[in-house]
Amino acid sequence: SNNKFFVGGNWKCNGTKDSISKLVSDLNSAMLEADVAKVDTGFPQKVVSLISQNVVVAPPFVYIDQVKNSLTDRIEISAQNSWVGKGGAFTGEISVEQLKDTGCKWVILGHSERRHVIGEDDQFIGKKAAYALSEGLGVIACIGEKLEEREAGKTFDVCFQQLKAFADAVPSWDNVVVAYEPVWAIGTGKVATPVQAQEVHAACRDWLKNNISAEVASKTRIIYGGSVNGGNCAELAKQEDIDGFLVGGASLKGPEFATIINSVT
Ligand code: G3H
Repeated sequence: SNNKFFVGGNWKCNGTKDSISKLVSDLNSAMLEADVAKVDTGFPQKVVSLISQNVVVAPPFVYIDQVKNSLTDRIEISAQNSWVGKGGAFTGEISVEQLKDTGCKWVILGHSERRHVIGEDDQFIGKKAAYALSEGLGVIACIGEKLEEREAGKTFDVCFQQLKAFADAVPSWDNVVVAYEPVWAIGTGKVATPVQAQEVHAACRDWLKNNISAEVASKTRIIYGGSVNGGNCAELAKQEDIDGFLVGGASLKGPEFATIINSVT
């Protein structure tokens, strides 16, 4: 599609002050597409937004401030989760207001690890998305089927039900990026084939068209996640309905993450 490519690096529960300082310095020195444009044109100002990609990284909460203060602003910061409403007496939670205060522009919601390891359900995730959007954060809305669901032929049913839960809760799709992450591909090294991924992305876009609007369907970025790496990103990026990636493990390596960012076609 013609949408601006979107690449997110989800660092999950990984890193130390030292390893993150190294990763940030690798990202800062990586050549991204925008820098190529800068060299070509001799554009003199500091590049504050990338031309052909949106790039975000999602550090663990406790390192957000460190990353915000050291990473160049060509890359935006996302949180990996947020509290469902306004802050207050919610021990251990982090509010959307606090995320904004520390410089976050995005939040990942509905990630499979929060659905299936922590036990968050569709309705709770939908509420979180609505609240984050109402406060001006962008939402990376994750969906995806488990292996047994795929084997039972329920891939579309599961994805559509999870999409519907977001659709029922959010007033607008303007600041939503959908991330299709088949659970069986996450952290397994077993990436979906370009054909498998494209099939689900196209079906999700169709669902948006039939249930929201043609405009939302064409403008909403649908990104793929699940064992994306420097070697498989190019073929996936060529697919018509793949508008970028949500990357876990490979986003912890600066040069490889840069390769994935630059796989924009
Ligand atoms: O949010 C990222 C996904 O869970 C993918 O993780 O690239 O390590 O498979 P992975």
